[in-house]
Amino acid sequence: MTILVTGATGNVGGSVLQQLLQTGAQIRATSRNPLTAGLPESVDVRAADLADPGSFKEALEGVEKVFLFPSPAGIEGFLEVAKAANVRHIVALSSLAAAYPGDNDSPVRMMHLTVEHAIEKSGIDWTFVQPGAFATNTLAWARSIRQDGVVRLPFPDSQSSPIHEYDIAEVAVAVLLNDGHTSAKYRLTGGESITQHRQVDLIGEAVGRSLRVEVQTRDEAYEDLLKQFGQFGSAKLVNSLLDMTEAAVDHPGDLETGVQDVLGREPRTFAEWAVDHKADFAG
Ligand SMILES: NC(=O)c1ccc[n+]([C@@H]2O[C@H](COP(=O)([O-])OP(=O)(O)OC[C@H]3O[C@@H](n4cnc5c(N)ncnc54)[C@H](OP(=O)(O)O)[C@@H]3O)[C@@H](O)[C@H]2O)c1
Repeated sequence: MTILVTGATGNVGGSVLQQLLQTGAQIRATSRNPLTAGLPESVDVRAADLADPGSFKEALEGVEKVFLFPSPAGIEGFLEVAKAANVRHIVALSSLAAAYPGDNDSPVRMMHLTVEHAIEKSGIDWTFVQPGAFATNTLAWARSIRQDGVVRLPFPDSQSSPIHEYDIAEVAVAVLLNDGHTSAKYRLTGGESITQHRQVDLIGEAVGRSLRVEVQTRDEAYEDLLKQFGQFGSAKLVNSLLDMTEAAVDHPGDLETGVQDVLGREPRTFAEWAVDHKADFAG
């Protein structure tokens, strides 16, 4: 059985690929730029872009299962190509934003719902992995931590239950390698709700440095986020993220049981994540 991993250069897809490699499964990966993807030489990497579904024809030949990065552009076309290739099961990275009833004006919720609805209608078996906030979101702080030992935040008391990308990937791999997960939607979070300020402190402990939090205005944060998102940024997206962060001030993040349900153990902690990533923040 060949498993195709899309988004294989990303945080979650990269970990799915690494974990599948360790199991000896037969895998293939895609990247829009295989030459610069930096994936292990043993991996069969093909060029493919979800925005151009026809580019997946070769990559999907002989593939039985797919780990799918959620890109709404081209999703219908991708599913047609996957169906023609007799793909049996799609394990899609989605989001908790799609799981909770909510604001249909939220760009994050709507893009994931678009992908989920298309897959549900495709006739291909599916499983949705629906994580909340990624611990990797804090990698956006790495530059200012390395340069000045500072993190600038508008709402440092905002809470979330960040999840380690290894846990998201481990759930996806368990689903890819075992039967019994068809039509399941797994809601995933870390096991503890913590403030952004506490996350900064835990990164400081991991790198052995005392870090400072500087409170910035919402306007300053807006400008920073627009720059961070580059071509994917929009006023609507950035404002929606800032609204969510502000609403979570002194409000504990949701705790979901997907990791325990699938893996039978507690999620990794943010402190463990910070140690796993200390090289990103050191220097
Ligand atoms: N951040 C959060 O808190 C959060 C929470 C819930 C869900 N999510 C979901 O998780 C996603 C981020 O996952 P991540 O952190 O693993 O990603 P990432 O590290 O940002 O990497 C993005 C990956 O997607 C691939 N990709 C992007 N556009 C593509 C396209 N048009 N065709 C094919 N591949 C494409 C890239 O591959 P190449 O560049 O090699 O082509 C890369 O491997 C978000 O977009 C969201 O859907 C995020």
